[in-house]
Amino acid sequence: MPNMSMAEVIGMKHVAAPLASGLEGVVVAETRLSEVDGERGKLTLSGHDVEELAGDGGATFEDVCGLLWGGALPAAAEREAIRGAIAEGRARAFAVLGRLGDALQAGDGMDALRAAVAHLGSDAPPAAIAGAVATFAAAWSRRRAGEAPVAPDPALRLSADYLRMVRGAAASEAEARELDTYLVTVSDHGMNASTFAARVVTSTGSDAISAVVAAIGALKGPLHGGAPGPVLDMLDAIGAATGEGGAPPAGSAERWIQAELGAGRRIMGMGHRIYRVRDPRAAVLERSIERLGRTSGGARGARLALARAVERAAEAALRARHPDRPLRANVEFYTAVLLDALGLPRTLFSPTFAVGRVAGWCAHIDEQRRAGRLIRPSSRYIGGVPGAAGVRSAALTPQSS
Ligand code: COA
Repeated sequence: MPNMSMAEVIGMKHVAAPLASGLEGVVVAETRLSEVDGERGKLTLSGHDVEELAGDGGATFEDVCGLLWGGALPAAAEREAIRGAIAEGRARAFAVLGRLGDALQAGDGMDALRAAVAHLGSDAPPAAIAGAVATFAAAWSRRRAGEAPVAPDPALRLSADYLRMVRGAAASEAEARELDTYLVTVSDHGMNASTFAARVVTSTGSDAISAVVAAIGALKGPLHGGAPGPVLDMLDAIGAATGEGGAPPAGSAERWIQAELGAGRRIMGMGHRIYRVRDPRAAVLERSIERLGRTSGGARGARLALARAVERAAEAALRARHPDRPLRANVEFYTAVLLDALGLPRTLFSPTFAVGRVAGWCAHIDEQRRAGRLIRPSSRYIGGVPGAAGVRSAALTPQSS
């Protein structure tokens, strides 16, 4: 035994199976919800191109909930029913704010959201969960700013009410429409990490709230939903030299980016696991910022010009370092510019991502329940062989006091 390799001990079959690092290229489910075509840069949401669904005059958040939860864009009466159910979810969540302990006192918005959502009843339906995520995120942001949470208005659709609850003043129809563009754009995206986390939890037979709490934890990470805040920090750092924004002085974006890469840091908002071309959602959000700029002009246009210049500089620097791996702008790059233009504080960017993505999580939870099979991959053991030299016997290990 001591001279046997691990392959001989446990049998070659397991050891020889290819290691799928990061589960890249592994297909774990069939889904009717969304398809990410990384080569052509296309995103399909339940039979609709994202450009069509989230374009000018496109779907509302409630529409995309109807699409993902029910399989088709809702007709007028259905849309009203979904709007009412999500509005009721916001109202119920607001009513329990006082019973969330210290959840909303967390310094990080995703920590607060995770703790607050954990208070919901484990059998909460999708509309209640979606309404609660928006209410908790807005209430956390108000408290963080030292202001009282604003009660939801059940007459409004989620986008308009979310902006109102965060800012304490009514949003214009143009602003609500562009927040809808954002929420629809990020509502679902294939087997992304947070969706996968939700599906793993669901596959054990656990409840929806446990799955959503796991998803929020996965979304928090900077490689997934935590990137847009740092993107805005980057734009601020590069744009500082230009005063009110606009195109940065020649070479300043390049110098900043080279310094980051030289320090071994990643450029936030760039690169993607699946896309080998520019993320199509970046273009959808870029157009949304242009539309907002036309209604308000001024500083927003300058910020967009800065973002475009930084994107070009980052793309060129990454192309030079990784000629074989296209690293282009992803959704988070223009998320930062759009949410900032909508007057949301950067600390609220990741929670606002959750406000949109919860539509997809709930749909995947339902789909995974129907699939009904436990998700349980394997690992390759690279630890010591029992009895081999260098592996101390448990019986001989001195007890610690
Ligand atoms: N900046 C600098 N280098 C990057 C990079 C970035 N944004 N994204 C990837 N790379 C580099 C990696 O360092 C790695 O280089 P190496 O082979 O020399 O080690 C190579 O590109 C491949 O990266 P890898 O981590 O294997 O790619 P992935 O598919 O696992 O990662 C992301 C995808 C999104 C996690 C990655 O591109 C990233 O970290 N981006 C920044 C964070 C971000 O914007 N997240 C939001 C995603 S929507």
